Amino acid sequence: MFKPQVYKNRRNRLREKINSGIILILGNSESQMNYPDNTYHFRQDSNFSYFFGLDLPDFAGVLDVDNNKDYIFANDVDIDDIIWMGPQPSVKDLAAKVDVDNTAEFNKLYDFLSDAISKGRKIHFTPPYRGNNKILLEKLLGISPSKIRFYASLELIKAIISLREIKEECEILEIEKACNIGYEMHVAAMKMAKPGVYEREIAGYIEGIALSGGGMLSFPVILTQHGETLHNHYHGNKLLKGNLMLTDAGCETESHYASDNTRTVPVGGIFSQKQKDIYNIVLKANTDVIPMMKPGVKYFDIHMQACRIITQGLQDLGIMKGNIEDSLANGAHAMFMPHGLGHMMGLDVHDMEDLGQIYVGYDEKIRPVDQFGTAYLRLGKELKPGFVLTDEPGCYFIPELIDKWYKEGINKEFINFDKVNEYRDFGGIRIEDDILITETGSKILGKPIPKTVEDIENLMK
Ligand code: GLY
Ligand code: MN
Repeated sequence: MFKPQVYKNRRNRLREKINSGIILILGNSESQMNYPDNTYHFRQDSNFSYFFGLDLPDFAGVLDVDNNKDYIFANDVDIDDIIWMGPQPSVKDLAAKVDVDNTAEFNKLYDFLSDAISKGRKIHFTPPYRGNNKILLEKLLGISPSKIRFYASLELIKAIISLREIKEECEILEIEKACNIGYEMHVAAMKMAKPGVYEREIAGYIEGIALSGGGMLSFPVILTQHGETLHNHYHGNKLLKGNLMLTDAGCETESHYASDNTRTVPVGGIFSQKQKDIYNIVLKANTDVIPMMKPGVKYFDIHMQACRIITQGLQDLGIMKGNIEDSLANGAHAMFMPHGLGHMMGLDVHDMEDLGQIYVGYDEKIRPVDQFGTAYLRLGKELKPGFVLTDEPGCYFIPELIDKWYKEGINKEFINFDKVNEYRDFGGIRIEDDILITETGSKILGKPIPKTVEDIENLMK
């Protein structure tokens, strides 16, 4: 947790951005796994973490915009809780850690909101994404769970994004901490990538590194010899010499700041020439766009530059053909890179995705594109100092997609399908770094994880 003043400042700044009314920020509850008392590891809501810091279930925070007051609604533990969980600080003491003076039992939230509603005051809330908070909002506000997202406050969504997208110094330090744990995870995975080892042995080991860092994973580990499946969570294969192993993994710090890195390495430690050729194209896309990353540049243009580099590289290998700009305009590269170059990162690995990607990644100046591939670009807007984002180009050979495009003649003027078929069992490569936008440029966060062919081969020796 940060100092109490950090949370107070954030709440004051949020209040200034909202015209009037009440801001309701629900924390998360425990989430059941297979019976009521057997729960998943508790994960606090990130908006609640940002403004109210406390990492416990069944808390709600309220900012009264008109009367300049903050409240925490939560219950003190009783003797049964103490027997099972040990002694806990009182809600009053917890609230003091985030500089909140007003506390009340959770049930009082019903009266508080009923009173505000009866006076015609606006209740601002963010779109709920968990079932129990949808049901809770129904009880509190009388809006059906199936309609609740339409009643979320756009004014609040935009205000929160404008604060959370610019990382404070203390947040950048936390993200760097997460990246440094991520470094340990990735280096361990590289060292373990030997023929005969099961993917799950490595996935389990690096999850352990994340947990021993004090937090948890920032998303389920993707670790696979079938990197052509973008989010492959199956870990049951035995590693075979000659295959590539793609690891996309990151952790959260204790206070929930994320890291997210991807590396692709040859099982056994030596790249074949064919693997090197594709790897170096993806590496060029990853590194050559970094100098473009600075305030004022649209991330959309950086994404397109990465796609241009991939297209050029694949043309040099005879896999693609034709005029590069026409090829890009037609989205031919998306057969090989059917995803966006990156996304915002912070308290969530895809930061603030609960608030709506269209507001997080786009604005009035730049709107999302619905072309296959670029439609998955989560960030398009102009960069500002303090943004933290990922840079994660990839190149994949997805047999089903190759066959579909071939059969339907999609982009046949830009793709040499005969040549592509020589790569059908290639798999996929992705390389991902976490980047801070500074006043003048950008900086890769965390200890550098080996990423050139030479550095990877040396580490794996
Ligand atoms: N690391 C997973 C993702 O960015 O979607
Ligand atoms: Mn990512």
